[in-house]
Parts: sequence; C-alpha cells; structure tokens
Amino acid sequence: MSHLSLYRKYRSQNFDEIVGQDPIITTLKNAIKNQRISHAYLFTGPRGTGKTSTARIFSKAINCSGKTSPNPCGECDQCVKITKGHALNVIEIDAASNRGIDEIRDLREKIAYKPVEGRYKVYIIDEVHMLTSEAFNALLKTLEEPPADTFFILATTEPQRVPITISSRCQRFDFGRISPDKIAKHIKDIASSEKIKIDDDAISRIARAAEGSLRDALSLIDQLMSYCQGTIKLENVIEVLGTSEPQFLFDFGGAIAEGSEKKILELVDGAVLSGVSIPQLAKDLTYHFRNLLLAKIGSTDILELSKDQVERLKSDSEKFHLGQLKSIIRKLSAAETEMKWHQNSRLVLEVALLEMCGSIEESPVVQEKHERPQVKVPEMKVSKDLFGEIKEKWNDVLLKMKSKSLFGYVSLHEAEPSEIDRSGRLVLSFKKGYSFHKSRVEEPQNKNILEGFIADIVGRNISVACVLSEKNNEPSPKTGQERITADEVAEMFDGKLVS
Ligand SMILES: Nc1ncnc2c1ncn2[C@@H]1O[C@H](COP(=O)(O)OP(=O)(O)O)[C@@H](O)[C@H]1O
Ligand SMILES: [Mg+2]
Ligand SMILES: [Zn+2]
Repeated sequence: MSHLSLYRKYRSQNFDEIVGQDPIITTLKNAIKNQRISHAYLFTGPRGTGKTSTARIFSKAINCSGKTSPNPCGECDQCVKITKGHALNVIEIDAASNRGIDEIRDLREKIAYKPVEGRYKVYIIDEVHMLTSEAFNALLKTLEEPPADTFFILATTEPQRVPITISSRCQRFDFGRISPDKIAKHIKDIASSEKIKIDDDAISRIARAAEGSLRDALSLIDQLMSYCQGTIKLENVIEVLGTSEPQFLFDFGGAIAEGSEKKILELVDGAVLSGVSIPQLAKDLTYHFRNLLLAKIGSTDILELSKDQVERLKSDSEKFHLGQLKSIIRKLSAAETEMKWHQNSRLVLEVALLEMCGSIEESPVVQEKHERPQVKVPEMKVSKDLFGEIKEKWNDVLLKMKSKSLFGYVSLHEAEPSEIDRSGRLVLSFKKGYSFHKSRVEEPQNKNILEGFIADIVGRNISVACVLSEKNNEPSPKTGQERITADEVAEMFDGKLVS
C-alpha cells in the first residue's frame, strides 16, 4: 500500500471531482466557458473543504491547451506540471510563513514579467489573513491594477480578518462544510478503490466526526489504517476519537427519561472507563438532546444523520415533553460552561444529569429567605457539648441540605465538623484537594442556608468557617485532580434521591 497520505493521493483533479461545493463549481465552470473570469477570487471556508484543490483546478483549466470543456484535460504539458507543482506560472504562497511575506513584498516587481510558460500567471495565496499590514498594502496595490494575464486566488479560513479593501476587490466564494452523507459516500468510493475494509457504521461515525472537512475524514482513515488490523469497525473509530457512540447516547436518553439515577451514574462511569473524556461526553450529550429536540419539533431535515438514526430519534423524543428537552439542553450547556472553570468536571456533569431526572428540584437558593429561629445565644458560652451535639446531628444537617440543594449537598458531603473555634464558629474541615467544594459552601447564599439548618437542628445560631484540612486524609488521586467516583455519589444518594 502506498504511504502517500490518502488526502494527498485523492486530490480532486477536475471540477467534477470536487464534492459538495456545487454552486461554486458551476459558477467557475460557467465563467471559464464564457470567458468572464474575474482577476481575483477570495475562497473562504473551513479547512479541508476544497479551496486549494479548486484553486489548482482553476489554474489548470485556464492554462490547459487540450481542453474541450471547462474541465482541464489533465494530460497536456501545463496540466501535468501544475498537478505536480512544477509550473512556473502557478505560484502558491503560504501567507502564514515568513517566506510568504517576502514573496508578497516583491510581488509587484515579479508581476511585471510576462509568464515564462503557460498563458496565464496564477497566484494562489493561502491563509491570506495572516499577511502583515505591509504585505496587505503591497497586495492591494497589485489588485488595484492587475496585469491582464495574471489572476489571484486568495484563500482563508478566517475571512473576517481579511481587510475589506482586499476582499471588496475579489469575487468571493464561501466553501461550506461538506455534509456527512457526501463525506460518507466519498469515503466509500476511496475505500473501495484502495481495498480498505471498513464497516458502514464506522464510515458514518467518521463522516460525522470530520465536521464537514473531507481532509479530516481522510486523515482519520489513514490513522485508523495504521491502528487496525483487518476491518475498520465502529469501536475502532470510537477508540481513536475518544468519543461516545450513538447507542450510548440513546442509553443516556433512556436513563434520563426513566429518571434512573443509578443507571445514569453507571453510564458516566462506563463512559469514563472506555476512555471518553467528560467534556467530550457533555458535548455529545448536548448534541444528542438537540437532535431529540429537532426530531420532536419535526425538523429532521436539518439533521445530518442516517434514516435509521432519525427514526430512532423520533421515537425516543416521544419520551420527553418539549419543555423537558429544552431544559435538559440548557442544563447541559450550563454544565459545559461550568466545567471549564472547575477541575471536577465529572461531578459537574453528574449533578447536572441527576437534576434532569426531576427527582430533585434545585431550588434557587439565592432568592429564598430561610426562616431561622432567632434564638439568642451568649456569644462566648459555647461548650464542648454544642460541638458534640452538632457532630451527632450532622447527618440531619446533610439531609436537610440534600432536600434543598443537590450541589450544596454534594459539596457539604466533603466536609467534616472539626471544632468550635475561639470566636464560637463551627469549623468545617474539607479534605485536602477539595477546595472546589469548600468555595461552594462558602458562597454567601449557601452558607446562609447551612447556618439556618444548623440553627434548626441545634436550636442556636452559629456561624460556619470553612478550612482545608492539612492532612491528606483522602487517597489522593494520581492525577492531582479532584475526583469523586460514581460509586461515591451513588452511595451518597443511597441509590435514590429525596424529593
Ligand atoms: N470538496 C472536496 N472534494 C473532494 N475532496 C476534497 C474536498 N475538500 C477536501 N478534499 C480532500 O482534502 C484534501 C485537502 O483539500 P484542500 O483542497 O487542500 O482543502 P482546503 O484548501 O480547503 O483546506 C484534498 O486533497 C482532498 O483529498
Ligand atoms: Mg488549502
Ligand atoms: Zn490540459
């Protein structure tokens, strides 16, 4: 087998081989047919969507001496040279490199010369948004008075960074992401001519993972070919991507619909064990529930999924009310955001998922004024007995918190009452490495609630102070990250949640 990467080996050689950019291709073909070619084009769009390939085909098409159609013949001297990258009249400049900038600098001098070979000179400037302002100025001057036999194709993934003075002088084509269906078909064709054995569900997963980039899809197959012995299967794709598979997402949907906390925690655990990262899982779940929402409202035509998957989504969406789906998506995206700021992303996701079961209503603790009994207690007269009483009744405090705020409860669970300090405050000691939970309990509204519960239970007002324990009384995780296992969480909830 060739060691040339697939995406190089399978570069489209004529307009009809470009996948999924039909309006652009039609317009270019017509322009060539009618000899109404613009002097400058701006090709925008994500990487791997065909910008460079189209620029090269265009260069061949306008220089081809053997053509009968707008497509280049692929055989004449110019076509062969341009394909190999040896043509002197087709100049590719990478604006992201220093050399690129130098090349633009003396563009104006060079441009004065007639092409040494071929009919037309074509400058293909890739990642044009990377040019320095000096280079942009040089380019602008050239675009203002382009020589008759010279064409420019500027390509960029970030059109908003191209000065308007430049872009307004170009005919612009936006290369769109290629649909999973088209990517899948293209992969199938290449796999059959390369005699690569690959399962259909593996192909669909690759097509979706590529997020519209054919280059990414082909690179992924290259990677899989060196990773797999024999047939490429869905599970191999999932292993390589480190992502979750659709079935798995449907399982999550089912567990949430049933309100089975236990199942949810097991699924999270399973996902982690199989190597899915928590942020990826959150992303996949958000995607899945968005699909369910779209299926629910009947907008399945914008879903880029197989017919089977769409059917499955439709029937699964019956399990939810529209409002539920919206609220789940909101909770998931809030969790995704929150995860970025907390090390304990697993806990954030688990709590978010448990909340979706609807068994626990996370009360907006901020607004609620807790009615606490106003018991007057002489400030300094705190005894050992009070501490003893608190310790003894701590579980009741935890239970009260559990019924109030799931987040508060999970965090409070990581603390232990350690003493009453000199100013009469109850000191809560958090295990080393659990500062995330400490700061959550310290949030004024949570602390206020907690102090209220303590007052309810021991009949006295007492304020709370949180500290981090010095001693490492926790089998510290190797990664140095805070972690709480699904078992621990399940244990905390006794397998069920209080409503
Ligand atoms: N629209 C497309 N049709 C067919 N192949 C494509 C397409 N877009 C990308 N490819 C594949 O990806 C490779 C890189 O594409 P390229 O044209 O360099 O993308 P871009 O310049 O947009 O990043 C090509 O060699 C080809 O294998
Ligand atoms: Mg390119
Ligand atoms: Zn030719």
